[in-house]
Amino acid sequence: MKKTALITGATSGLGYEFVKLLANDGYNLVLVARDEEKLKEIKQSYSQLEVTVIPKDLSVIGAAKEVFNEIEDRGIDIDVLVNNAGFGLMGSFDELDIQKQLNMIQLNITALTELTYYCLQKMKQRNVGKILNVASTAAFQPGPQMAVYYATKAYVLSFSEALVEELSGSAVTVTTLCPGPTKTNFGAVANVEGTKMFSRAMASDEVAKSGYKALMNGKRVVVTGGFNKAGALGAKFMPRSLAAKVAKYVAEEK
Ligand SMILES: NC(=O)c1ccc[n+]([C@@H]2O[C@H](COP(=O)([O-])OP(=O)(O)OC[C@H]3O[C@@H](n4cnc5c(N)ncnc54)[C@H](OP(=O)(O)O)[C@@H]3O)[C@@H](O)[C@H]2O)c1
Repeated sequence: MKKTALITGATSGLGYEFVKLLANDGYNLVLVARDEEKLKEIKQSYSQLEVTVIPKDLSVIGAAKEVFNEIEDRGIDIDVLVNNAGFGLMGSFDELDIQKQLNMIQLNITALTELTYYCLQKMKQRNVGKILNVASTAAFQPGPQMAVYYATKAYVLSFSEALVEELSGSAVTVTTLCPGPTKTNFGAVANVEGTKMFSRAMASDEVAKSGYKALMNGKRVVVTGGFNKAGALGAKFMPRSLAAKVAKYVAEEK
């Protein structure tokens, strides 16, 4: 029987790259994002697979549970969950819109947590399953000018690594992908394209491939690219006050 993968944020960037990789390996797909037209377009290009589209704004309270309920109602078992949907915002915390920042927490943290919760319970019952949670190199230090975004990604990494330990001895795996700046719509949405950090942005297909390989091998954490790996390692050994200053520096305009 064919396996099924659920991908959030499937319409663009890394999520769309995961769609291509999973489709290429013959997975049936459940695709979630807000843009219904784009989801339908993607579905049409994979007529050989069973593709279910669930248009949903995951920054709305209760939306993640609605997605899971719809999957249950359709009798679909999820073998691979890719919690990828997320966004960031550049600016001083107190000057950015508070509602947008709360929506970011709801999407980057709460929706990811809820989907992991419901899918993991089913995966454990079936004793099969792989979860990929998309964090960021932002997870490794505080991020002045993107304070909430960096904090959401620190949550994703901490949460996912804790689950790895809870699941030791189980067939279910949890992998965290920590990309550095990557060429997707993220830069435009977050308004970070003109910053120093984005002068080294990687290609989205390269980043997704590395995450996909780690997911399939059940690896714990993957940081993409040599430069980002060095940065993540550096942040681990630096005092956090210094790491925060470095993050502030790279958030400046080029
Ligand atoms: N690109 C980078 O530099 C970078 C670096 C580190 C980590 N990341 C992480 O990588 C993940 C993917 O981002 P990306 O770079 O591929 O950005 P992207 O091109 O902007 O894609 C974001 C995806 O999430 C979906 N999405 C956004 N808000 C949503 C919502 N409220 N409800 C449901 N879906 C929503 C978007 O689709 P709709 O607009 O159709 O909803 C889109 O499919 C994010 O978690 C991001 O934090 C990105």
